[in-house]
Amino acid sequence: MRTLIKHALGSDSPMDSIVIKGWVRTRRDSKEFSFLEMNDGSCLANIQCIADAGIPGYEHIGKMSTGAAVGITGKLIESPGQGQKWEVQVTELELIGEAPSDYPLQKKGHTPEFLRSISHLRPRANLYGAVFRMRSRLAHAVHRFFEERDFTLVHTPIITASDCEGAGEMFRVTTQDPTNTKADKPEEDFFAKATYLTVSGQLEGEAFATALSNIYTFGPTFRAENSHTSRHAAEFWMVEPEMAFCDLEGDMDLAEEFVKYLVKDILENNEGDLDIFCKFVDKSLRERLEFVVERSFQRVSYTEAVEILIQSGKKFEYPIEWGVNLQSEHERYLTEEHFKSPTTVYNYPKSVKPFYMRTNDDGKTVTAMDLLVPGIGEIIGGAQREERMDVLKKNMEEHGLSDEDYWWYLDLRKYGTCPHAGFGMGFERMLMFVTGMKNIRDVIPFSRTPGSCEF
Ligand code: 4AD
Ligand code: MG
Repeated sequence: MRTLIKHALGSDSPMDSIVIKGWVRTRRDSKEFSFLEMNDGSCLANIQCIADAGIPGYEHIGKMSTGAAVGITGKLIESPGQGQKWEVQVTELELIGEAPSDYPLQKKGHTPEFLRSISHLRPRANLYGAVFRMRSRLAHAVHRFFEERDFTLVHTPIITASDCEGAGEMFRVTTQDPTNTKADKPEEDFFAKATYLTVSGQLEGEAFATALSNIYTFGPTFRAENSHTSRHAAEFWMVEPEMAFCDLEGDMDLAEEFVKYLVKDILENNEGDLDIFCKFVDKSLRERLEFVVERSFQRVSYTEAVEILIQSGKKFEYPIEWGVNLQSEHERYLTEEHFKSPTTVYNYPKSVKPFYMRTNDDGKTVTAMDLLVPGIGEIIGGAQREERMDVLKKNMEEHGLSDEDYWWYLDLRKYGTCPHAGFGMGFERMLMFVTGMKNIRDVIPFSRTPGSCEF
């Protein structure tokens, strides 16, 4: 039976017989024996294997180069060397799959740009193996957080007819039929109407929250926004809780609790992967994450935030005044220079937010909230929803949305309407936050950004 290297390295005692399968990271030969550093992706660390010349399979040692798949049978013994507790004394070697000398991942460091061009091999690089193990752990923590709080998981649809954010940034869904020229005649299309890839599961989430109370959805979302930035992707994953009988305050509380939970989980259960980010990506990462767990986040209204930005006297590329949406430079100033802390900004101007947010008594602002973090800016966007039928209809009219298209959404206000609230967390942005990785393209297995869908 094969043992994962993670388990071999974590063993309490030596083993008389062990089978390791993985890929060669490096090999050094002397006359009498060879050292093989093996990795199987189960953890960051390699296991050192010592193979004496002449053991079965040794005749292929020359082909066991960096990247080759190799099976190792041997004994797990205490390592006399420093740094590692265990090593393998090999009794038999098996060459499973060679990696010719043009294997692109040689020992030297590679740039993120080059590694993106070989996204199919990228998870074999140490740093990216760590990123994607972190991604998996973070996803499990998301589910655990909601399960511990009795939220019901809802699988909201990927194909939809509604534009939740109303930003006109949806990908249209059509069939592959080469004779299909029906783009202008949606009624003749597959679904007999125009359909799109979802930008958010929120509207369907609201339907379930107004039945099951506390729900969440966690899935891929798509945006055809032509943003060439390090934090925008055309396909990304979003975590969206929605709670019945909840207001903006409760929403902001949950968002803060959620971020703290995820960060704490990563600090406690990272299996050594955090070390590589602290070493090569961001030296102050651990300290920054510990700070997030220990301290309360800041909370300011949009109006106060604008006041702070004006008072700062800073020359922003996008000049700030009441009524404009916060740009990333403004978000960064607030979190990195002013508060030096994650910060939730709430009650944004009605004019910069979607139709579904609840209008405040001032008539000018809505119960929106964005959670901003240093280094990234917005990682969560949410709101208390408009539960009053008449106000919602008026908002929809102002946004050019028809009652017919959203009839089912309006039904949620017609039958047993109630205050409710929720938010969406950009999963990749959260992963960037806990790993320190600077570009969204480097935390998603195969990134889709404008002009780029190679794999
Ligand atoms: O602020 P957004 O657009 O909010 C919504 O979609 C709401 N319907 C969510 C809800 O209330 N249920 O997006 C939510 C989050 C953002 O804060 C950001 O972290 C992330 O999704 N996000 C993106 N991440 C990567 N690439 C993009 N193009 C993103 N657009 C939004
Ligand atoms: Mg937003």
